[in-house]
Amino acid sequence: MLEEVRQLASVVVAEITAAQDDKALEALRVHHLGRKSRLRQIARQIGHLPAAQRPALGEATGRAQQAIQQALDDKALALRQMAESASALDVTLPGRRPLLGCAHLLSQLTDELISIFQGMGFDVADGPEAEDEYHNFDALNTPADHPARDLHDTFYLEGGGLMRTHTSTVQIRVMEQTPPPVRIISLGRCYRKETVDATHHFAFHQIEGLYVDRGVSFADLKGTIEAMGRQLMGAETQVRFRPHFFPFTEPSVEYDFTCICKRQRANCSICKGTGWIEIAGAGMVDPAVFTAVGYDPDEYTGFAFGMGLERIAMIRHGIDDVRRFLENDLRFIRQF
Ligand code: DAH
Repeated sequence: MLEEVRQLASVVVAEITAAQDDKALEALRVHHLGRKSRLRQIARQIGHLPAAQRPALGEATGRAQQAIQQALDDKALALRQMAESASALDVTLPGRRPLLGCAHLLSQLTDELISIFQGMGFDVADGPEAEDEYHNFDALNTPADHPARDLHDTFYLEGGGLMRTHTSTVQIRVMEQTPPPVRIISLGRCYRKETVDATHHFAFHQIEGLYVDRGVSFADLKGTIEAMGRQLMGAETQVRFRPHFFPFTEPSVEYDFTCICKRQRANCSICKGTGWIEIAGAGMVDPAVFTAVGYDPDEYTGFAFGMGLERIAMIRHGIDDVRRFLENDLRFIRQF
C-alpha cells in the first residue's frame, strides 16, 4: 500500500496538469480527494494496520494529499491566467487609435502669416539664430553704448557672437545679398535674457517684414499692417499707429489692433476695456541702415516691421501663460 500511495500521487498530479478546464479540474478533485477517493480509503485503513507500519503510511498519505492539493491550486491559477490573457486578445474589441500628430500652434501661425504675406508678394527669408553683434546691432544703427546691448538683455556666446535678440538681423542679411527692390518676411526664434514668468520667456518667436523700393511710403506700411490685421484678427479689425522710437527706423511707430472683444466688454482681460491691444513695432527704414548695407538712401525708401508671434497666439486663443508654448505638453499642443 505504501508503494501504491507513492505512485498514486505522481499519476494524479499528471492528470491534473493535463486538465483542460475548470470542470475537468473539479471532477479530478472529487475523484482523488473526495470521500470515496482511493486516498481516503487507504487513510481509513491505516488504523487497522500493525502499529509499526502506521507512521510510514500515514506520512505518505499526507504527502500525497498535499501534492495533489498543490497541483489542483496551481492548475486552477494557470487556467484563470489563460482565460484572462485570452480575453486580452479579444479581436472583437475596438482597435487602439494610433496617436496622430499636429502642427504646433506657433507653426500653424507661421504658416498662416507666410500665406498672408505671400498673397501680398513677399518672399520668405531666413537667417541664423546665433548671430554677430554687427548684424544684431551695429548695422541696425544701434551703437555700442545702446542699452539694448546690455548684458542683462543679450545672451553673448563664448568666443564672440550672440543669440539674436530680434529677427531684424535678417533685414541686414537680405539687403547685403540682394540689390533693391526687396520684399521679404522672416520668421523665427529670438532670445533675450529674461526672467521667465507668465508673460516673459528667454526664447520667443518673431516675424520681421521689410519692403524696399523706389517710392515706398508710410501709406504702404499702414496698408500692409492693416491687411495683415484684418486677416489675422477678423475683417472688422482697425489699426492705430502711435509714435515710438526704434534705432533702425525713422519715423518709428508702435501699432495697435482693435481688441477681439470689439469694445463690448469693459472688463475684457485682453484690452482692459480700452478696446485696443498693443501689437508690435514698425517704421520707415532709417537711412543709416541703407548706408550700412550699401543701398543709396537718396534713391530708395522702405518700411520694416517686427511682431511677436506668442502675443498674437495668446490673444487669439485666450492663452494666459507664455511658458506653455515651449513646454511641449501634449495636453496643450493637441488643443489647436
Ligand atoms: N526688432 C524690434 C523688437 O524686437 C521690433 C521692430 C520694430 C522691428 C520696428 C522692425 C521695426 O522691423 O521697424 O523689438
